[in-house]
Amino acid sequence: MLEKLEALYKEATAALDGITTSDALREWEIKYLGKKGAVTEIMRGVGGLPKEERANLGKRANEIKNALSTGYAEREVLVKEQELAQDLETGAVDVTLPGRPRPVGGLHPSTQMLRNFYTIWAEMGFQVYRSRDVEDDDTNFTLLNIPPHHPARDMWDTFHTTTPGVILRTHTSPGQIRAMREFGENGTQPIRVILPGMCYRYEQVSVRSEIQFNQVEGLAIGKNIRMTDLKGTISEFAKRMFSPDTRVRYRSSYFPFTEPSMEVDAECLLCHGEGCAMCKYSGWLEIAGCGMVHPTVLRNGGYDPEVWSGFAFGMGPERMINLKFGVQDIRYYWGNDLRFLEQF
Ligand code: DAH
Repeated sequence: MLEKLEALYKEATAALDGITTSDALREWEIKYLGKKGAVTEIMRGVGGLPKEERANLGKRANEIKNALSTGYAEREVLVKEQELAQDLETGAVDVTLPGRPRPVGGLHPSTQMLRNFYTIWAEMGFQVYRSRDVEDDDTNFTLLNIPPHHPARDMWDTFHTTTPGVILRTHTSPGQIRAMREFGENGTQPIRVILPGMCYRYEQVSVRSEIQFNQVEGLAIGKNIRMTDLKGTISEFAKRMFSPDTRVRYRSSYFPFTEPSMEVDAECLLCHGEGCAMCKYSGWLEIAGCGMVHPTVLRNGGYDPEVWSGFAFGMGPERMINLKFGVQDIRYYWGNDLRFLEQF
């Protein structure tokens, strides 16, 4: 039996050395190592042998089986390499075929628009100040001249936390207070900043309103800042954001933290004032709220309103994208639908 096994081992090894194709390799495996293969057959017979032969033969059969398996694996690598080399030579593998394109990521449209804002405002001398998303009620409202129970609070539906007085900011305006207190040096230094970031409102989500969105607040404080500075600055921004011939108009409005307050419209980008569905046939698109900083707000920021003045504005990057690209539904922004995101 042992001799038969050794002979088989020799035969199998010799056969393996001569193999050059995957097909032959597979046949070899079936013949020697497969379920009905020769080596397997012998191993199966071991059980029926007398005790003294059994141990010896079993051990040797195992060794041989392992040796053949290893030999098989080594041969397989060799054969695969040879076959690939042959394929390359005969042109079965066309190495000049273009590769498969790998999808690359992109920046979210809001991020792109925010960067547009940063660039334009930086060119006009405004630094970026990052205020906090989690605010206190005082800074978000009271210090901005919106006392508790004032009906103007209805303009901002608020997410409250479980800690009384701690809320998610409903707008970026509280950043005005923080910027004035941090950089004003007790009301002695001028300020020119934008305050970008996410705002949160307790809204029914719809085509027009989301529970979160970005705003870019602007604040300029100085000793001789007038409404003409505000109008010139915003008009210049609109030209840089849209096109050099964009016209802008200012409508009287109300915000508690500015006096006087205005809303800013730019000429409709689609119809250039003719009237179309986008501008609801008015010829104008609203792009910002703004005004002269209210004396109470200046005082809360540490400035003497008899000496200092300033202007402020608030804009919406998502809204700006809607206007520029005709996006009809605000819910696309956080919907994570690549079909939308890939268009930017
Ligand atoms: N905070 C206002 C809002 O969320 C927008 C705004 C209006 C900001 C006028 C301003 C401003 O700084 O002057 O609706």
